[in-house]
Amino acid sequence: MEPAATSHAEGPVPPVHIAIIMDGNGRWAKARGLPRTAGHKRGAEAVRRTVEAAREMGVSYLTLYAFSSENWKRPAGEVTDLMGLLRLYLRNEVKVLHKNGIRLRVIGDRSRLGPDIVTLIEESEAKTAVNGALTLTLALSYGGRQEIVEAARRLAVEVAAGRLAPDAIDEAAISRNLFTADMPDPDLVIRTSGEKRISNFLLWQSAYAEFVFLDVLWPDFGRDELEAAIGDFHRRERRYGASG
Ligand code: IPE
Ligand code: IPE
Ligand code: MG
Repeated sequence: MEPAATSHAEGPVPPVHIAIIMDGNGRWAKARGLPRTAGHKRGAEAVRRTVEAAREMGVSYLTLYAFSSENWKRPAGEVTDLMGLLRLYLRNEVKVLHKNGIRLRVIGDRSRLGPDIVTLIEESEAKTAVNGALTLTLALSYGGRQEIVEAARRLAVEVAAGRLAPDAIDEAAISRNLFTADMPDPDLVIRTSGEKRISNFLLWQSAYAEFVFLDVLWPDFGRDELEAAIGDFHRRERRYGASG
């Protein structure tokens, strides 16, 4: 076996793009007799730890599933609490992200978010746009199917206007019309909490991602768990359909 190339302090080169389905806040709280909000609060701390660890490890893209299109179905009180935490994160954390050279981006349907949150997102994206250490993407009000539908609709408009031939619609044309147009596909998708499903996350983009499912609940996630998932990733053989 060839020795793995090394980056930063130690260890093999990490995957370029890691995406995480941050699940299990509610169960973490329930196990402690606490309200679900307490789990979400601790979940925000896990985000902080994970972003820092990913940056230090030299990950280029970290995409975090924070709120799905389907999460709007939750009780109004929980949605309000989650939006409150998001506001706090955007107000307080962006300075730290910026200081650490991290670029923040948000993907998802902004039309369903409060106008003040949209403004905070726009300000944060503008402030951190030049940073190159790590691109942190938050998926908010995000659904993979909705994203593909929107891409199809945009391409249909181009075709109807006579600017695009139907034959010119290929994989690249779809990819260009997704929120993630200028990002590489995720190499590794991690889901915490023991659930083994994709829940409408990066459906198109994760066609050849490696999946790691961990039993740990999101509020308990941190550097050690991220390293373990990356270790698992490095033991996989990626084939992309070719014979091994
Ligand atoms: C993940 O934790 C956070 C969001 C989906 C917003 P959950 O709130 O889904 O926690 P569980 O799955 O109920 O434990
Ligand atoms: C997926 O978790 C969405 C996020 C982590 C933001 P859910 O808890 O909403 O997923 P399901 O309902 O268990 O599939
Ligand atoms: Mg859940």
